[in-house]
Order: sequence, then structure tokens, then C-alpha cells
Amino acid sequence: HITDDQGWRIEIKKYPLLTEIGSQRKETVIGRNSGEYDGKPYGGFYTQEQAKEIVAYAAERYITVIPEIDLPGHMQAALAAYPHLGCTGGPYDVWTIWGVSDNVLCAGNDSVLTFIDDVLAEIMDIFPSEYIHIGGDECPKVKWQACPKCQARIKALGIKSDAKHSKEEYLQSFIINHGEKFLNAHGRQMIGWDETLEGGLAPNATVMSWRGEGGGIEAAKQHHDVIMTPNTYLYFDYYQTKDTENEPLGIGGYLPLERVYGYEPMPRSLTPEEQKYIIGVQANHWTEYIPTLSHLQYMALPRWAALCEVQWSSPEEKNYQDFLSRLPQLIKLYQAEGYNYAKHVFDVTADFRANAQTGVVEVSMKTIDNAPIHYTLDGTEPTAASPVADSVLAIKENCTFRAVAVRPEGNSRILSEEIAFSKSTCKPIVANQPVNKQYEFKGGSTLVDGLKGNGNYKTGRWIAFYRNDMDVTIDLQEPTEISSVAFTTCVEKGDWVFDVRGITVEVSDDNKTFTKVFSEEYPAMKETDRNGLYEHKQTFEPVKARYVHILAPSEHSIPAWHGGKGNPGFLFVDEIVID
Ligand code: ACM
Ligand code: ZN
Repeated sequence: HITDDQGWRIEIKKYPLLTEIGSQRKETVIGRNSGEYDGKPYGGFYTQEQAKEIVAYAAERYITVIPEIDLPGHMQAALAAYPHLGCTGGPYDVWTIWGVSDNVLCAGNDSVLTFIDDVLAEIMDIFPSEYIHIGGDECPKVKWQACPKCQARIKALGIKSDAKHSKEEYLQSFIINHGEKFLNAHGRQMIGWDETLEGGLAPNATVMSWRGEGGGIEAAKQHHDVIMTPNTYLYFDYYQTKDTENEPLGIGGYLPLERVYGYEPMPRSLTPEEQKYIIGVQANHWTEYIPTLSHLQYMALPRWAALCEVQWSSPEEKNYQDFLSRLPQLIKLYQAEGYNYAKHVFDVTADFRANAQTGVVEVSMKTIDNAPIHYTLDGTEPTAASPVADSVLAIKENCTFRAVAVRPEGNSRILSEEIAFSKSTCKPIVANQPVNKQYEFKGGSTLVDGLKGNGNYKTGRWIAFYRNDMDVTIDLQEPTEISSVAFTTCVEKGDWVFDVRGITVEVSDDNKTFTKVFSEEYPAMKETDRNGLYEHKQTFEPVKARYVHILAPSEHSIPAWHGGKGNPGFLFVDEIVID
């Protein structure tokens, strides 16, 4: 992946400004688009000679380097060098923030087609690989919608929108098809990200499925080869622990070793015939937040070991416990080579379960090697002198739970959780509308397990509602005086995750007739609203009731300022606190 909005990293002799201008940015945003900048110029690129050296070094080791020139989106650095390739003509800067720029190659400009051919010709000269990746992901269409040249191209090609795709999506297919034709004419095969399905796949394309597995499944059904690299399992730039405060800053996400190991690349929904189109898997290490080789090793190891078995072992041969029992030997090799590997796998893992029968939070803990686990409940640091957790703990009241694995070579990192009891904790809960399958975790009981989430909505502390609303009934099991309902949402607008659009609270004694005690609607989120946690606490006149029904609509139609406009948004909630 040698080109992006934030830098062009490969010498192209016919377009010298791509590296002279496009490889240099004047500064870089601090953190995850904080709005503050480091003030330090950043740049660099591979000369063609250097890239050939890498290709040769890899080939001696039976490795083929496949380059990606990401087009027609992720091109702002190229536009900074050659602004006439954009819809507006610029001027453009090499982008100094992370994400997806709206400034893309102009699909109505013939010199863009020549540019694509010229760049690919030099790329094929450097990289002898059968496959060349030409991207196709994350290409916003807003500039094309407003561009007379792009609209003229749409007209000239006779493109019409239909129920499946917009005109601009078909226009993207025109560009990708152009790239494929050029590659095929030179004996090469094209790879594109799953967005290339959106206006119809190029005839011979291999699809890389990154937004989950759906694109790969669809492509295989259309008899296209597929490489699975779903961000639900194989994005190794994602965090590998929930304890993100003690990690180097990362892009987000949560993909621990066990999750990676559990990936099965052959989708069960495909027939054996269709499964033949799944030709392999890939893990991605996007490096916005990975500035050093040592950090890259930390993100890669030991997740690469799990990836190997995902790729090379039949599902019936895979066994996570067996893998863990072999891992310590492999880690000795990491140590001998001086690699900076991640040690989370030696930490205590704990499962928290709200038991609605007994009204307690059950905590079960384990380590991969059965090292003794010591814990405290008062927030103090657990040591070898603290009680040993040798069975399931039953937590009945507020506590700060901390646990550590004690080994001769040293203690693991400490696992910490706040468990907070309210009148709804560990009470029976029914979801009247389904929880989103992808983020279901322990279902509705997640909302009454006494545990709060952090700013990462993928940790299992949060559950999601999508197309549906948070619509739950909690049984307090006896008439109980209550005067407040509170919950928090986690908002990440770039990921189509939004706040609630309203809250209604009703109470009942028989779970049949409900009385409304609170109701409020909220406006759609604005572009300028912050991401992060939004706390909603509603108080009302004290009322005695057994059943509490809470309805909080999700965003059913993303507002017009957003790339996902008109689509449903996700709603993430971690805990419902009734008092
Ligand atoms: C991707 O992660 N945008 C392919
Ligand atoms: Zn245009």
C-alpha cells in the first residue's frame, strides 16, 4: 500500500512531482485527529531501485511482493502534486489528518485515465507479481456528484442509477474496469477492495474483503477469486486488549489472539463449489499509529502465529488450547531473536456474567498456563499474598475487582474492573427488538451486568442496535421505588455509530399495562458533535413498579452531512442503571 492521502511513497519517473511534492507533508495531526498538529514535516519514498531491491530480497525467500496503488480514492497526495487530476483542480495539500479524503481522482478527466495507465506501467516494471492491487476502497462520491466532467462522463457512458447502485458507483466501476483492462493487457491480474462490488465487479478481478466477510461471500457467489482480510478478525492495527489505557495509542478495535485464531476463512454460507473461490487470507497492519518496527512487531506477534493456523490448518485440526500449549516454545524464539512481542496472552482473562437467578455477577478467571490467579475486591494491588481465585467468584455489591497471574518469572499485568450495582443489576431483561448480531456479545444481560465500557465499542462491554432500537423490559422482580434511568452511548460517527434519538421510560406492575414516566426526543447529530461517550440520565417523580420498559430509538436515517446518509446508524449502549 504505497500511496495514500497522506503520502505518495513510490518513485514514478513520468510524474516526478508525485514524490517531490506528494511524498512530503508539512505536519501531522496528533493522536486520532485531535485537531492539534505536531508542526514537523514528514516524508519519504522508495526509489524504483530500492523497491526492486525489496522485491529481489523477498523473491530469494520465495515471497512475492504485491503492490497496491489505491485509486480512485485515497489520492489527495497525488492531487497535491498534479491538481489537474482532481475534480476542482485544487489546490490540494498532502493531507495532514487521518481518514478518508473527499478529494479523489476526477473520473471525467481523460488525463486521469492516462495517469492510471502510466503509473501502472511503471509499477508493473518494478513489481513482477502476477497480481497488482488497485484499491477501490473508501472513495467518497461527493466531488463526482458536483463535477461537470464526471457528470458528462456519466451521460456519455449512458450510466443510469438503479435500485442497486448510484450513477457514481457505476462510474467508479468504469475507472476500476479501465485499470483492470490495462493490467490484463499486460498479462497481470487485478485485486480490488470489496467496494469494487458496488458498481459491478471488473470481469476478472480478485476481491479483497475487508469490511467483514460479506463482500467476499458475494464475490465468491459471482465466481470471483477472494482474499479474506475482514476487519472483524484480521486487522492487526486494532487493539489486542480491552485495557487500552495501558497500550500505545492505536486506531481502535479489539482483536485479541483468541478471536484471530477463531477465524474460519471458508464461509459456511458458501457451497463447496463456491468456497473454491476463497484463495487465501491476509492480515492488515495499517501504520497511521504504528511509527516504529518494534511497535509493528508488538502488533504482529503472536497474532501472526494464529494467522498461520487460520491459513494452513483445516478447521477440524484447529484447537485454541493446543495452540496455546505450543505458544511458549514459539515465544522462546521471539525472545532469542529480540522481537518485541505482545504478552497479553499471559494476562488473566475474566468472564463476567450477570446471573438473573441469583442476583450476582459471576466472575470466572483463567490463564493460558493455569498460573495461580490472585485477586482483591477493594481496589488495592493484588499480590502473591492476596486470595487465590480458584473457583467462580460471586460478586453481590459494588467493588473494584483486580486480579494478577503470579509466575516465577514475574507477575502479569493487572486486570481491573469496576462492578457497580443499581436496582437493575443482574435483573432479568428482555430485548423486545433484536440486538445486532455482530455486536450481540452476551445480549441484553450485558446491559445489566454492572460493567461499563470505555471509548472502544468493540470490547464486549457494549452491545449494538442497528435498524432496531434499544427496546428492553427489565423485571425488578418486586415492586421497587425508582426515580431515575441512566445509560451511556458510545458515538463514533466515522464508523456510522450515533447517539440515541430519544428516550421513553414506562413502568408496569403486570408487564401488560404500562404508564409513561418519561419521554423525550433528540435531534439528529450534527457534523460538529464530538465522538465519545454520551451520558443520558433521566429523573422523574419517584414511582413504585416492578417492570421498567425503556425505548431509545437508534438513528434510522444518517443525516445528509455524512457519507452514510440515509442509511441506518449503529447505537451502542453498555449499561442501564435504574435507581
Ligand atoms: C481499508 O482498510 N480501507 C481497506
Ligand atoms: Zn470530476
